[in-house]
Amino acid sequence: MPDTNEAVTHAFWLAGREATGESTLEVTSPWDGRRVGAVSVPTEAQIEEAVAAAEAVRAEFAATPAHVRAAALDHVSRRLAERTEEIARLISDENGKPMKWARGEVGRAVSVFRLASEEARRFNGGEAQRLDTDPGGVGRLALTRRFPRGTVLGIAPFNFPLNLCAHKVAPALAVGAPIILKPAPATPLSALVIGELLAETDLPAGSWSVLPVPNDQMPALVQDERLPVISFTGSDKVGYAIQASVPHKHCTLELGGNGAAVVLSDYAADPDLDWAATRIGTFSNYQGGQSCISVQRVVADASVYERLLPKIVAAVEAQVTGDPSDDATDVGPLVSEDAAKRVESWVDEAVQAGAKLLTGGKREGASYAPTVLADVPADVTISCEEVFGPVLTVQSAADEDAAFAAVNDSKYGLQTGVFTRDVQTAFRAHRALEVGGVIVGDVPSYRADQMPYGGAKKSGVGREGVRFAMEDYTYERVMVLTGIDL
Ligand code: SIN
Repeated sequence: MPDTNEAVTHAFWLAGREATGESTLEVTSPWDGRRVGAVSVPTEAQIEEAVAAAEAVRAEFAATPAHVRAAALDHVSRRLAERTEEIARLISDENGKPMKWARGEVGRAVSVFRLASEEARRFNGGEAQRLDTDPGGVGRLALTRRFPRGTVLGIAPFNFPLNLCAHKVAPALAVGAPIILKPAPATPLSALVIGELLAETDLPAGSWSVLPVPNDQMPALVQDERLPVISFTGSDKVGYAIQASVPHKHCTLELGGNGAAVVLSDYAADPDLDWAATRIGTFSNYQGGQSCISVQRVVADASVYERLLPKIVAAVEAQVTGDPSDDATDVGPLVSEDAAKRVESWVDEAVQAGAKLLTGGKREGASYAPTVLADVPADVTISCEEVFGPVLTVQSAADEDAAFAAVNDSKYGLQTGVFTRDVQTAFRAHRALEVGGVIVGDVPSYRADQMPYGGAKKSGVGREGVRFAMEDYTYERVMVLTGIDL
């Protein structure tokens, strides 16, 4: 287990075995700057070895019986569950995530590996299609099965250092595709735990590697023709640059969002508004707002706006800030002081342009206070970009159509929450909102790991969510049988 003994330099996982390189990467706590540990960085020769091993095992791994892959995935799921507390502590140490959210993340990774083992057992049963619908197809049957596109390069972000790695690794192994996982440089330790647990299985050597490759060495991996699938989670800038550099590759891009919560006129009873405000207050700040589906914007119908606003401010102010290792803490630091300074500069810009600061607006080191802004001009950075911090903007809309138009008035389209009790409104929202997911009666931040997850517009292409990633990592290959007595 990559513990947080500051003296330890952790090995990485090269084709299923531990290895060390010639240099190291320091991992520090965003909360107090202490050294959490260090990871060994693979050399170019070692990266080549991992890619070559994946290529060498590709055909063998694709042919592995489903029960072997499923058993390995089950094993990882069980072991993660057994070790929840220590792994949550590791996530919290390297990422600054409060323990309550870190435990939740481990629980989700347990589900991701379990779901992948279940899907591995039923995936690719094959679909038969009779072809005698036209004279030329008499006696012919098409059988379609899915096969891996090839080795996956998974590039994971810092904000869910365990679960977003799980979302890359588990579906790849479930379909029999080798994977090279590159964790975020700030948070490589949680990813190494996945390697540790996979090493306890009998998956073939070469079918997986966890390589803490520095970002400046990533382009060479991206260009490698032996890695035809890239699954990237991170910023739209980096994601689209990757895609543009390898237009012939299959890229899944999970990019940014500026999640909106819409509160409509039928949600006017006090208990309803209290629920909406509590959920908004919590999920604009969970993990310091560092989630692509945290609530960044509230769009409330004018008929409920004035009553909702103080409830939201109270819910935001009720968030307990501080030491992420404390069980009582809701909001810890951002991933770095630079990240907090960027958030500070965006809030300051908005306030200077006329936005009203209702609460928060203060930075201390890497921590930024939960913040609510009203009357924010449409052209300031915080209105246009993903803040990835604990900042919420609120606005009113004349009616439902205006509210949906306000949500769509964004380059992003990941998920939207719609607080309504009216099923017709829910269906209208589902049709009107240009996003990957509409959550009715809750915030955009709701994600179940088996759901299709991904964006419209500049929020990305492709879908994660275990079965959907499995589809993404594979392609349909048809076989036509002739002379069949249909
Ligand atoms: C993300 O930030 O895109 C992931 C959100 C989640 O998995 O809950």
